[in-house]
Amino acid sequence: MQELLDNYFTLSDGSKLPRIGFGTYTEDFSDNTKAIGEAIECGYRFFDTASLYETERCLGEAVKNSGLKREDFIIETKLWIDEMGYEGAKAAIEKSLKRLSMDYVDIYMIHWPRQTGKDDEDWKKLDIETWKAMEEMVDEGIVKRLGVSNFLPHHLQNLLDNCRIKPVVDQLELHPGYSQERALHYCMKNKVLPMAWSPLARGRDNAQIANEILSKLSKKYGRSVQQISLRFLIQRGILPIPKAVSKEHMMSNLEVFDFALDGDDLSMLTNMPQCTWLGEHPDFHIPQAKSNPDNK
Ligand SMILES: NC(=O)c1ccc[n+]([C@@H]2O[C@H](COP(=O)([O-])OP(=O)(O)OC[C@H]3O[C@@H](n4cnc5c(N)ncnc54)[C@H](OP(=O)(O)O)[C@@H]3O)[C@@H](O)[C@H]2O)c1
Repeated sequence: MQELLDNYFTLSDGSKLPRIGFGTYTEDFSDNTKAIGEAIECGYRFFDTASLYETERCLGEAVKNSGLKREDFIIETKLWIDEMGYEGAKAAIEKSLKRLSMDYVDIYMIHWPRQTGKDDEDWKKLDIETWKAMEEMVDEGIVKRLGVSNFLPHHLQNLLDNCRIKPVVDQLELHPGYSQERALHYCMKNKVLPMAWSPLARGRDNAQIANEILSKLSKKYGRSVQQISLRFLIQRGILPIPKAVSKEHMMSNLEVFDFALDGDDLSMLTNMPQCTWLGEHPDFHIPQAKSNPDNK
């Protein structure tokens, strides 16, 4: 716990984020207030949600039930593709704050840079209009800082060329076997902290080469393959947000601050053949939203 509290990444605006967060996406819509409550007990203070996930309500309840102060937490949420645009974004943050039962969020993000599948030739304009509304949320104090998700360099460049307030983070699919080097390099160059979604490749173990490399390192360091994956990301300056329902998993994912991978092993993980990609791409294919009316 103390190790976690002592381990921060510093953002471009000087604020700090814990080096590991907790993801709340779940494929079913079961109530995960309990799981988030257990994550708080384990020591997690930085939580990722989105209007799409329909876990904002559970997260808000778990924070309230914890008895801790709101300021003890860093809460990040995202607007979905059908909430983009100036008016859409303004309406979206109101709904998210209501579901969270909070009067501000720490980081507000655009979930995907374009509405792929729709007629979205004007995605550059749409991103800028959405961002303008988000900048005004910062002015109003209902959002502390802004971020993006699934933005590749060409999406980020459009925003950086036109924004008043820069994004502090970019959340990307990143894990051993999917390293998005060009996007990472661009983020680092522009002082945008890269954050890893699906840092454990969502438990997929269908890539032999990744399994072999991770198993070998697991034996060498006496750590689980998941701990090796998380440590790899953190050492590369990437903030992972693993999701876990099992308390044992939650705890073990925090035990990654008392060992270090050596340079050769970092290089081996960075340069392994690309595999275990989830298959979503911001310019071609993004997931379709499911919906649970109870959580809206
Ligand atoms: N921005 C985006 O577009 C986007 C997309 C996807 C996800 N995300 C965010 O990223 C978060 C994490 O990604 P994810 O949920 O896709 O997948 P993930 O964190 O890579 O993997 C979660 C899976 O790994 C298992 N697990 C966790 N810790 C483990 C451990 N120590 N040992 C063995 N298994 C372990 C979990 O099992 P149990 O649950 O059984 O413990 C669960 O099945 C999401 O929850 C969401 O907040 C963002």
